[in-house]
Amino acid sequence: MTLPFSQSCENNKQFILNVIERHFNAPGKLIEIAGGTGQHAEFFAAALPHLQWQSTDIPSNVDFLNQRLLAANLPSALQFDVTQERFEHPQVDYVFSANSLHIMPATAVVEFFRHMKTLLKKEGMLCVYGPFKYAGNFTSPSNANFDLWLKGNNPLSGIRDFETVCELATQAGLELLEDNAMPANNQLLVWKKTC
Ligand SMILES: C[S@@+](CC[C@H](N)C(=O)[O-])C[C@H]1O[C@@H](n2cnc3c(N)ncnc32)[C@H](O)[C@@H]1O
Repeated sequence: MTLPFSQSCENNKQFILNVIERHFNAPGKLIEIAGGTGQHAEFFAAALPHLQWQSTDIPSNVDFLNQRLLAANLPSALQFDVTQERFEHPQVDYVFSANSLHIMPATAVVEFFRHMKTLLKKEGMLCVYGPFKYAGNFTSPSNANFDLWLKGNNPLSGIRDFETVCELATQAGLELLEDNAMPANNQLLVWKKTC
């Protein structure tokens, strides 16, 4: 059986691991939001066996995601759409999400961070990978084109403002620790929950 596959995941997974292994460094429970193809879960869970990696995605993507998770002997994905009012899950030590904030509408990005208030433990870490704008500017012409392409697919999608996302994170009790520039004009943002 052909498993769900994304070339970009293959390209970025080692670079992401190089950052998250410094932060997801003690045994603990992790929720992945927007698991996609499961390639990140498969690679990171194998590389960081001290983590209990639990992927999630919107209900319509869970069966697709589970194909790779089950082949990798990982727990089945949980259904979690960040726009849902509540996510009934015990607090976790870590949250990871890649390439999700520019896909979901801006209103859902607000909800994403609202969930951090309850889902993430105090001292917990959040790592978010993807493209961002700074002071309203794209970091590259290719990101500007990517933004146009996203909006062509869904007018509510689009590359988010770093400052807006940081403000939402601050409201959720998160302190920005790192903004890592990554290959292919992406960033890996790292926050710590302070309260
Ligand atoms: C471009 S894919 C990224 C998948 C994977 N994380 C990766 O890096 O390849 C965007 C993901 O966002 C998820 N997504 C979209 N809207 C969402 C929402 N409201 N709540 C949670 N996930 C959402 C999609 O189902 C999809 O898995």
